[in-house]
Amino acid sequence: MKTSQDDARRRDREDPGHRDLFLIPPAEGGAYPETAYLAGNSLGLQPRATRDELLADLDGWARLGVEGHLDADRPWLPYHALLTEPAARLVGALPQETVVMNSLTVNLHLLMVSFYRPGGGRTRILIEEHAFPSDSYAVRSQARFHGLDPDETVIRTADPLADIERHGDRIALVLLGGVNYLTGELLDIPAITAAGHAAGATVGWDLAHAAGNIPLRLHEWGPDFAAWCSYKYLNSGPGALGGVFVHERHLDTDRPRFEGWWSTEATTRFLMRPVATPPGTAEAWQISNPPIFAMGPVRTSLELFDQIGMERLRARSIRLTGYLESLLDEAGTGHISPRDPERRGCQLSVRVTGGAGDLARRLRVEHGVIADAREPDILRLTPVPLYSTYHDCWRAAQALATAFTL
Ligand SMILES: Cc1ncc(COP(=O)(O)O)c(C=O)c1O
Repeated sequence: MKTSQDDARRRDREDPGHRDLFLIPPAEGGAYPETAYLAGNSLGLQPRATRDELLADLDGWARLGVEGHLDADRPWLPYHALLTEPAARLVGALPQETVVMNSLTVNLHLLMVSFYRPGGGRTRILIEEHAFPSDSYAVRSQARFHGLDPDETVIRTADPLADIERHGDRIALVLLGGVNYLTGELLDIPAITAAGHAAGATVGWDLAHAAGNIPLRLHEWGPDFAAWCSYKYLNSGPGALGGVFVHERHLDTDRPRFEGWWSTEATTRFLMRPVATPPGTAEAWQISNPPIFAMGPVRTSLELFDQIGMERLRARSIRLTGYLESLLDEAGTGHISPRDPERRGCQLSVRVTGGAGDLARRLRVEHGVIADAREPDILRLTPVPLYSTYHDCWRAAQALATAFTL
């Protein structure tokens, strides 16, 4: 390749990220001690601060037992509220519109209980043609839950605006991925939200691949709800808790909702009454008492986003992914993600000729490059602006060029 290693090193000196705040896994093979980790779209890396912060919360339990609910350094009863404001800032929501809880698909179901209300001729759910399978299973099971035929109810679209126009008066819910998991395409969230609403549908977003990847302005863009996970770009660990957004206009709602003791006002929680008094916030969608040791890593990660700022990260992301794109073009592999940086996040997806999993394994074992495969033929390469380097991109392109010529 024409582009040299020295050039990549120079770019890293001129445009460093925050790699020192993260633990980079050691390489299994190749010429460098650390992996070139380009799989943050799947599972983000561990911030160095996470372990000590988690241990501090564990110490509270050891020292205080049940008293930790009120007396721990970060008391457990209101612990979830520590995450609300930073999560709201990250997605451009009001704090009262935001809560961190559960896992993503669980949250999508809880939100659909309130926001998928099929009736009359309006029963359809619009999802992407390449929706993540969990979302597809979720909406199909929601259709069955309402006594509907999932094959008839779920419309899969490659062009949301056109299909909203075509099927508008039959669509009850538009539920799309803000950034597509397979191609990395960033959809026009405000335009699709507005079109869905104009057609009379409810609009929700799965932001698994968007939160921490691109700046979001959910309150202003106005979807009815959104949900995201924290184990990808939010670096909060495998299976980490997800986040939920419910637009302000729905907070005082008589829509149906599944409730438990964490759905009632904090001041009424221990009055042990049989009937809940839900607050006029997204916390009303909470059900159970939250897992403190799962919340700790999300709190630590959100602090990093607050300190560094999503706009700064996005600016570096555009430079870093643009550099990887130029290297892939030079290596002759190209990619199938949008070429316009405004229509994508960090991820570039390369189409390979079959055996994506096998190729990913070879990149890992022979070159120390961690990419992520979606069988049969997609390799996802994701430089993450927090911790990835230009040199990581150079290594990945070198390794791919070698693999493609063998
Ligand atoms: C777009 C999307 N939706 C849903 C999920 C499933 O998330 P969970 O297992 O947290 O429910 C994922 C997981 O990677 C995803 O990428």
